[in-house]
Amino acid sequence: MSRVWIWVCLWVVGLVGGFVEGLGVNWGTMATHKLPPNVVVQMLKDNGIQKVKLFDADQSTMSALAGSNIEVMVAIPNDQLASMTNYNRAKQWVKRNITRYNFNGGVNIKYVAVGNEPFLKSYNNSFLNITLPALQNIQNALNEANVGNSIKATVPLNADVYESPQSNPVPSAGRFRSDINDLMTQIVQFLHQNNAPFTVNIYPFLSLYGNDNFPIDYAFFDGVSTPVLNNNTPYTNVFDANFDTLVSALRAAGFGDMPILVGEVGWPTEGDKNANSNYALRFYNGLLPRLAAGKGTPLRPGNIEVYLFGLIDEDAKSIAPGNFERHWGIFRYDGQPKYAMDLSGQGQNKFLVPAQNVKYLPTKWCTFNPNAKDLSKLADNINYACTFGDCTALGYGSSCNGLDANGNASYAFNMYFQVHNQQDLSCNFQGLAMVTTQNISQGTCNFTIQIAYSSSSSSSSSLVSSHIIALSLLVAFALLVLH
Ligand SMILES: *[C@@H]1O[C@H](CO)[C@@H](O)[C@H](O)[C@H]1NC(C)=O
Ligand SMILES: *[C@@H]1O[C@H](CO)[C@@H](O)[C@H](O)[C@H]1NC(C)=O
Ligand SMILES: *[C@@H]1O[C@H](CO)[C@@H](O)[C@H](O)[C@H]1NC(C)=O
Ligand SMILES: *[C@@H]1O[C@H](CO)[C@@H](O)[C@H](O)[C@H]1NC(C)=O
Ligand SMILES: *[C@@H]1O[C@H](CO)[C@@H](O)[C@H](O)[C@H]1NC(C)=O
Ligand SMILES: *[C@@H]1O[C@H](CO)[C@@H](O)[C@H](O)[C@H]1NC(C)=O
Repeated sequence: MSRVWIWVCLWVVGLVGGFVEGLGVNWGTMATHKLPPNVVVQMLKDNGIQKVKLFDADQSTMSALAGSNIEVMVAIPNDQLASMTNYNRAKQWVKRNITRYNFNGGVNIKYVAVGNEPFLKSYNNSFLNITLPALQNIQNALNEANVGNSIKATVPLNADVYESPQSNPVPSAGRFRSDINDLMTQIVQFLHQNNAPFTVNIYPFLSLYGNDNFPIDYAFFDGVSTPVLNNNTPYTNVFDANFDTLVSALRAAGFGDMPILVGEVGWPTEGDKNANSNYALRFYNGLLPRLAAGKGTPLRPGNIEVYLFGLIDEDAKSIAPGNFERHWGIFRYDGQPKYAMDLSGQGQNKFLVPAQNVKYLPTKWCTFNPNAKDLSKLADNINYACTFGDCTALGYGSSCNGLDANGNASYAFNMYFQVHNQQDLSCNFQGLAMVTTQNISQGTCNFTIQIAYSSSSSSSSSLVSSHIIALSLLVAFALLVLH
């Protein structure tokens, strides 16, 4: 009997499959055409994803999540931080966007992200004085509404709020950046008082980007020939080194045991020579099994709660950080998986379940008109098309980089045409373009058809979630490895 029972258990476990404990995804919505929230929620369920991190508290998103039991981190965008320094406004926000969903069959809210990487150096200290007051007001309002025990406010921070000195670039020497050390200490104290976690975004891809001296293997998890030795502890990847630099900074501030969430981690697939599906596959094939095994880092063995960035490509994001910024999705714009990914952490060669019943615009494209006579305005028209359409796949290292001049024009015109829902007038370009029903995709370059959901959603377009490369710490590690 017992042996049969064990067999049954093994069979059931095998059938159901495991899932990396604590794994979530970031669901950003800065796309010209958004998959309907209920389609996305079904996709999350189909893939067993039980946690999601948002960048706002959009009502349509929240409604779709209601009743799903998926754990949710809702967010207050940076441009709303200033108003949250007023306690009454913070209470209103909590009432409207938190307690409203707190009913049986409502939304399972676990965290409120107060701001998004507000201390990035590129923000010129704009949010320096308002982030802590906003955090305090939101948590206090949650406490006053009697939900503070189960819902915690936290601030997703960029990894450049801490660093190791150039003279000793090892994880154990990690400290909060000296210019914001007092502020960071106060934030950490407040989080501690409320049993709230520290949230950090860690991007090995950005260590590589723009730094040709960075040892590429150190960005992944499959080992390096010369690990960084820190007090005899070998570090073989920059994720661990970065995470433990934070652990050390927290220790130095007197909060060495504070729980840490990784708010964002991932790998993009276009827009840079290191952004492609093979590297994304390699990255996740290293990350997910480690998370599943509860490996943790040298200074923090055990499970880590991690949110992948991101769920779906977002073609309307700012590309100020780089062309890769629109291509972080583990799914394409239309909810199709890009590469094999096994969320059970068993490293199986299988694909995620795609979005179901997705509707596309008709099968037609906008292409360069080979009979066009006057080509003098071609460059201007391509520029115009690329201002509104996403041409990032044309750049160096991307899937459409090899096109000839006409191919470039067609690609740009088509992206514009699709963004504008294939309206006839959007495929003219002063007579340089024409509509075709022939698939003009070439080689690795897909000329896409947009999905048939226009961008009427109320989601805030002012949200700029960017990944700025300011990780001097990572550069320091790179140099150390090279020596
Ligand atoms: C609730 O969240 C939405 C979406 O982020 C935001 O636009 C709105 O201002 C918030 N409501 C209040 C009362 O603050
Ligand atoms: C920060 O300052 C720089 C240089 O003064 C400026 O170019 C940039 O636009 C500023 N950024 C923001 C977000 O204010
Ligand atoms: C933040 O507050 C300090 C001290 O009150 C002040 O000197 C500084 O100008 C403020 N910074 C910003 C960006 O408002
Ligand atoms: C096509 O566009 C890309 C990106 O703008 C550019 O690098 C490339 O040189 C263009 N190719 C031709 C043949 O004009
Ligand atoms: C167009 O062709 C490409 C490459 O062969 C293919 O991947 C894509 O699915 C096709 N698109 C449509 C709408 O048939
Ligand atoms: C192009 O589309 C096909 C499916 O239609 C997909 O398999 C392939 O990965 C896509 N290529 C790129 C670079 O997105």
